Amino acid sequence: MENVIWFLTGNAGKLAEAQQHLHPMGYEVRQLMAEPSSVTEPQASDLETVARAKIEQARSLLPSPTAKVMVEDAGLFIDALNGFPGVYSSYAFDTIGCLGVLRLLTHLTSDDPVQAKRLRAARFQAVAGFWDGERTLFGTGVCPGSISAEMQGEAGFGFDPVFIPADLDGEGEPLSPDVLGVESTHGMTFGAVEPSKKQVFSHRRKALDDLLRQLPDLSEKV
Ligand code: IMP
Repeated sequence: MENVIWFLTGNAGKLAEAQQHLHPMGYEVRQLMAEPSSVTEPQASDLETVARAKIEQARSLLPSPTAKVMVEDAGLFIDALNGFPGVYSSYAFDTIGCLGVLRLLTHLTSDDPVQAKRLRAARFQAVAGFWDGERTLFGTGVCPGSISAEMQGEAGFGFDPVFIPADLDGEGEPLSPDVLGVESTHGMTFGAVEPSKKQVFSHRRKALDDLLRQLPDLSEKV
């Protein structure tokens, strides 16, 4: 049980991403399922407040009080929409979906692909919360990029088919749209690339790394 992390999520895609990332570091990630009625997501304007509330609720569902539990909250923030859908991403996905987001941005086009990316700039942000049996820690991750002109690919989940991540330099830092990076999806969305490729850019992976850096026994592995 020492290396078991319970992950409170109903999202199989998120669970798979966390398992893929944490397994090589010696952690077994198990899904902590909750009745929808026993976990409520607060309406808050920032992801950390939501993650903190979820951690408190998750702790009451653990098999033992010292078990480790993780929660994660993420959202898509679109510049031209002043950050919408942001903390409302889940609701926006269930209501207007990827096509609805594309429709909200139809007026933002350009024949110049670099300019089009600037007009349609967006970012995924994630906060990972972790109860280590004694204290709560938070990690954050951001993946800048842009919204595609049309849906592309069937991999991943949520807004993956409409999100193109910004290229990365050799240190993993995001680059502006006019520069070709060492890591690039070459204009393809998260929905059109392999899960292992998404991990290179992923806000969730960055939030987990940020969290792991705060755990002394694992920091050398990040
Ligand atoms: P949650 O509250 O963390 O579950 O995330 C809110 C919503 O943001 C999800 O329902 C997805 O629509 C979207 N989202 C979060 N992370 C991702 C991602 O990695 N890819 C695509 N959509 C995402």
